[in-house]
Amino acid sequence: MPYKLVDGVSFDVPEGGVLGIVGESGCGKSVTAMSLLRLNSPAIELTGGQILFGGEDLVRCSDERIRKVRGAEISMIFQEPMTSLNPVFTVGNQIVEALQAHENISEQAARKIAIDFLGHVGIPSPQTRFDNFPHQLSGGMRQRAMIAMALVCKPRLIIADEPTTALDVTIQAQILDLLRRLRAELGMAVIMITHNLGVIAEIADRVVVMYAGRVVERASVGALFDRPAHPYTEGLLASVPPLDRDVDRLPTIVGTVPSPQAMPTGCRFAGRCPYVQDACMRTDPALVSVGQDHAAACIRHTGYSA
Ligand SMILES: Nc1ncnc2c1ncn2[C@@H]1O[C@H](COP(=O)(O)OP(=O)(O)OP(=O)(O)O)[C@@H](O)[C@H]1O
Ligand code: SF4
Ligand SMILES: [Mg+2]
Repeated sequence: MPYKLVDGVSFDVPEGGVLGIVGESGCGKSVTAMSLLRLNSPAIELTGGQILFGGEDLVRCSDERIRKVRGAEISMIFQEPMTSLNPVFTVGNQIVEALQAHENISEQAARKIAIDFLGHVGIPSPQTRFDNFPHQLSGGMRQRAMIAMALVCKPRLIIADEPTTALDVTIQAQILDLLRRLRAELGMAVIMITHNLGVIAEIADRVVVMYAGRVVERASVGALFDRPAHPYTEGLLASVPPLDRDVDRLPTIVGTVPSPQAMPTGCRFAGRCPYVQDACMRTDPALVSVGQDHAAACIRHTGYSA
């Protein structure tokens, strides 16, 4: 029996902008991201909707076209670099191959660009590192090599799915800095996926909050932090560690995300919401405007009679 993993998710990313997608584990962030490039497992079907990239619908374009888009126009970086890096080839060769797959250039020219990019992403002695296998690099260096590979064709959009989660805090900050710098230099747009609103505050201009396969709030980063309009966002904000003091324990949102096979009727957050009313069990709240360029899906904004 088929069931929906994500549903009615809608957002846009302007050229050169950074959109954050945030939500707990299982909210549908990766399924959404993989759908953009039709990279989901075959068990997952795209049943409708549009993914417009510069006016072209990526849901309906040919397989050949989407293969060209991947890497050259839109590329992805993942939490685990070994998802993209092949352990049996040197990092340099993999970058050269990525370049040659999309551009008609000589091996020598590609090698030079690859070495430049390894330096660009902050890998010391790039000439030597070019000939290293992935296992010869530290975790942070591998992440940088993967970023170099993702950026070498100068894509217009980069989708980063939890790119810093597995790294320690210092390296996380360095990688975020790097992405910010490269974005400014190369003018690419970024979709940054994370479960951490702290990362969003660091890098994004706009943010989409996902819960149980839906968008529950959409806003500029400033508005989201100043005036969160959905109780789930409030809960996520309360669990961001403060930068200025140590805390033993942060509040967490009690309960878990409902599974896609057993979505409750009514508001999907009702089982965990501190403001829940009887009406929330009957009403599936629509995403409505709650301010300029700010929308949320909660009946506290649409009225309890909805
Ligand atoms: N191949 C699959 N087949 C069936 N269900 C899947 C598949 N991949 C993901 N799902 C389900 O889709 C839902 C959304 O998963 P998704 O991986 O997008 O979450 P996420 O927000 O990226 O979480 P995380 O923060 O853990 O990466 C989850 O309920 C997950 O179990
Ligand atoms: S609709 Fe009700 S349960 Fe859902 S978030 Fe709003 S107040 Fe909470
Ligand atoms: Mg994920």
